[in-house]
Amino acid sequence: MSLPPGFLDELRTRVSLSQVVGRKVTWDMRKSNMAKGDWWAPCPFHQEKSASFHVDDRKGFYYCFGCHAKGDAVTFIKENDNVSFMEAVEILAREAGMQMPARDPRAAEKADRRTQLSQVMEEAVKWFRLQLKTTAAAEARAYLEKRRLPPPAQDRWDIGFAPDQRQGLFQALTQKGIAPDLIVDAGLCARPDDGGAPYDRFRGRIIFPIRDARGRAISLGGRAMDPNARAKYLNGPETDLFDKGRNLYNQAPAREAAGKGLPLIVAEGYMDVIALSEAGFRATVAPLGTAVTEDQLRLLWRIHDEPIIALDGDTAGFRAALRVIDLALPLLEAGKGLRFAILPQGMDPDDLIKAQGAPAMQKVLDAAQPMVNLLWRRETEGKVFDSPERKAALDKVLRAALKKIADPSIRAHYGEDIKRLRLELFGQNAQPFRPYVPRGQGRAGGRFAPLQPIAPMPSTRASLLGSATAPVEERLREAVILATLVIHPGLIRQFESALETLDCTGEDHALLRNLLLSHADASDPRAEIAAAAPAALDLLLSHPHVRNAPAILNISDREKAEFALAQDFFILQAERGRRREIEEAALDIEGVVDEGLTWRIAKANEARAEAHRGPQDKTGESVISANGVALDKEELEEARKVFDSIRFDRPSRRH
Ligand code: UTP
Ligand code: MN
Repeated sequence: MSLPPGFLDELRTRVSLSQVVGRKVTWDMRKSNMAKGDWWAPCPFHQEKSASFHVDDRKGFYYCFGCHAKGDAVTFIKENDNVSFMEAVEILAREAGMQMPARDPRAAEKADRRTQLSQVMEEAVKWFRLQLKTTAAAEARAYLEKRRLPPPAQDRWDIGFAPDQRQGLFQALTQKGIAPDLIVDAGLCARPDDGGAPYDRFRGRIIFPIRDARGRAISLGGRAMDPNARAKYLNGPETDLFDKGRNLYNQAPAREAAGKGLPLIVAEGYMDVIALSEAGFRATVAPLGTAVTEDQLRLLWRIHDEPIIALDGDTAGFRAALRVIDLALPLLEAGKGLRFAILPQGMDPDDLIKAQGAPAMQKVLDAAQPMVNLLWRRETEGKVFDSPERKAALDKVLRAALKKIADPSIRAHYGEDIKRLRLELFGQNAQPFRPYVPRGQGRAGGRFAPLQPIAPMPSTRASLLGSATAPVEERLREAVILATLVIHPGLIRQFESALETLDCTGEDHALLRNLLLSHADASDPRAEIAAAAPAALDLLLSHPHVRNAPAILNISDREKAEFALAQDFFILQAERGRRREIEEAALDIEGVVDEGLTWRIAKANEARAEAHRGPQDKTGESVISANGVALDKEELEEARKVFDSIRFDRPSRRH
């Protein structure tokens, strides 16, 4: 919207700057000279005791000799109320009785209609305020007292009372000449289905006026006095004036306070906003009987870069409140975020302040956590990740969440944080899942054990798998492979490439592998190895698991040994491949690379199941394991007979 020429000049001459400023400061009457239009006060824009803020009423200009703030009436409202230029102009125009130029005729009509409805609402607020002073409201006043809302606070919050009458408000307003249609359209009264006279929507309730960004009354919230009332809180319906999802309770005062540097808090309800504000946390808002919407989030970010969502400590409400994360993720921009302040179990801000005072609330706010932590907590709390499948499922959910973040840089940072949290959770091999404990509570020394170094580069992955993180089962399978080859050195050449790429994690396994490879063509490789590494060989062959392996038990049957060996290589490879996929998924979680990851894990699991089933289920011409061990179909037929006859610990074929 553009302003017609001369509009601003006219506005500046019509409003008195000293009057506009005078509402926000206390003049230093000794220093001021009213006759000359010379006004002095302590500056509203910085903390000071002396009066260095000067208003020149004739020029319509202010200047602070302390912080050098300067400007005219519009600038003053803009800075002080933390509103946009156009909003400041509107506020001043209303004060000066000047009509704001309308965008187009229909918009002007709509604006007129809204002004009318708002006036009706204002009349209703006045009437409800009056009712609170009557004898009929004694109980309501006692209730407010009990909730620490004495009369001065009732005045500050414009709190009223709706008597338990069917047409109390309706009659009061119509007697003032207000048309029933306007009363109904403002959402104050409802028409019964039978078409009879409208009746009051709010009855027997404490009334909280809801105002828009410019302070105009747009709706009401009403708290039931009767504990058995059907709804504890009743909010006005959606009207031309009131869009629940686009407004916030206490928006204008909160915006002004946030502009002065107070943290912006998002509470759940009316009473929380009031209790917080009264305790000094004046930049507090609440949604209006619904969950926070996307529009409200945008609104919050226009007021403050990092609003703090206050969460009740009860689990049901907690989970519901965390849905705001899904709304926020796609909207995140550099510098804009959310923090979450978690209240003690079962308490809302009102309860906490009442029980322990403002310092306790301040502590909760100081401990507010960034959204990424809450995202993590939401997905992990109360769950156990004791299997690769469950861990992979978690990764999938987290990747999906990260994918929602539109800003690539923020997405990368979230990825980093998630990765760190994930390492903290899974980093130590044998550590069970540690339930989340908020910072500063519980054990000394931080929430989690120190990070476990995990090599992140693909090039170092082999050594990663070669570390102590490889399960015992894999180490034993290595031992069986090596022992089989020591006993059947004739098979070394056949399995050469598989042997070369075998990750040796067991003690001396790498040494034995190298000896096997280098003595493959010796006349008696076993003797050579025994001579080169007697202790290592002894240790290997003395292990009970090795002694009982099928390939060793069938020491004279080269064919059985060959088959068992192929099987062992295949299983080992599949196990490791699967573990690698899962570790990889964890490592590039921040990349949010592709859904293919999930697919790869599924494939890795299939390969593993396949390996355990044994090759006999294959119908193709040959089975080639990734390490190059090939068995053709006929061989398989032959092998199957042998295979079935040997003792081999394998799961049932049917699943
Ligand atoms: P709560 O049930 O947490 O109540 O509702 P409260 O704010 O602590 O209120 P008191 O302390 O019991 O008076 C939180 C908010 O949810 C909405 C209201 O906006 C309320 O402030 N609400 C709750 C409803 O709209 N309807 C209801 O019936 C209950
Ligand atoms: Mn409460």
